[in-house]
Amino acid sequence: MQDRRHFLKIGLVGTAAFATACTSEPANDPATVGEASPRLKGPIVLSTWEHGIQANAKAWEVLSSGGNVLDAVEQGVAVVESDFSNRSVGLGGMPDRDGHVTLDACIQDHEGRAGAVAFVQRYEHPISIARAVMERTPHVLLVGAGAERWASENGFVARDVEIPEVKAKWLEWLKKGEYKPIVNIENHDTIGMIALDANGRLAGSCTTSGMAFKVHGRVGDSPIIGAGLFVDGEVGAACATGIGELVIRTAGSHTVVELMRHGMEPTAACQEAVRRIIKQNPGMKDAQVGFLAIRKDGTVGAWSVYRGFNYALRTGEKSELRDAGFDREWA
Ligand code: GLY
Repeated sequence: MQDRRHFLKIGLVGTAAFATACTSEPANDPATVGEASPRLKGPIVLSTWEHGIQANAKAWEVLSSGGNVLDAVEQGVAVVESDFSNRSVGLGGMPDRDGHVTLDACIQDHEGRAGAVAFVQRYEHPISIARAVMERTPHVLLVGAGAERWASENGFVARDVEIPEVKAKWLEWLKKGEYKPIVNIENHDTIGMIALDANGRLAGSCTTSGMAFKVHGRVGDSPIIGAGLFVDGEVGAACATGIGELVIRTAGSHTVVELMRHGMEPTAACQEAVRRIIKQNPGMKDAQVGFLAIRKDGTVGAWSVYRGFNYALRTGEKSELRDAGFDREWA
């Protein structure tokens, strides 16, 4: 899994004119620190992990049929939320230590408008509730029972999903009750998506069932604007995956975007955000965090603590799975 470097090519989606606007050219900034970042033209969709491939395909479908970038990032990650074979996103995710699947999500547009929900149960699409919070309330974040009640009052329908495999894993875990996530397995716990449309507008989304066997009530970075996701329409966007506590403590995605604002290219900005996490946690072992970034000019970047963080990139007719740069080997 760690050495995976497949480059998947998936067929043409959308009109030829749309695809033509999306050809890529190499980065040409000699002042980069870390891995060089490719500069890409036209619409770009970037998502965490391999499940990002299917999410990007949906987002691309939305963009190529004239939809806006906010629709694209919402509908893209919603595909993964509906995939109940996914154990880290949506109602198919792993439960907390009390056996409840609790979900966190957020969304942000190029004007900085944002919506989020945290610690919600029984809703298939927390990302859509997050968007509704953004569009229909004066607030940014609703949590728990209040968020669920608001969702129900606003047309979202709760449902029960019981997956025998998940229940069996939880019952097995209860025997020891030990909280010990495994790097790149139980840590690939999120889909974060950031996108740039043909008009230069940015948006992002992030959704997760959080860490397996977390304390009931625990909320990670994914619904926290500035931690799991940050979009600044003048600069760029970033999202995070991995141990949410480490990302929250460093305001990770905001850090990446702010570093880009001050001139750092996206890969270097992601790398610096990872270095701050490592510096802040010198004894840290086996804790994965990864960042993705898009700068407004179409330059993209990714970096993680450990080898093994991959991400899906969609530009034009090309859909790729890439490996992020990393600071540490995981033994
Ligand atoms: N990064 C997702 C979480 O920590 O819950």
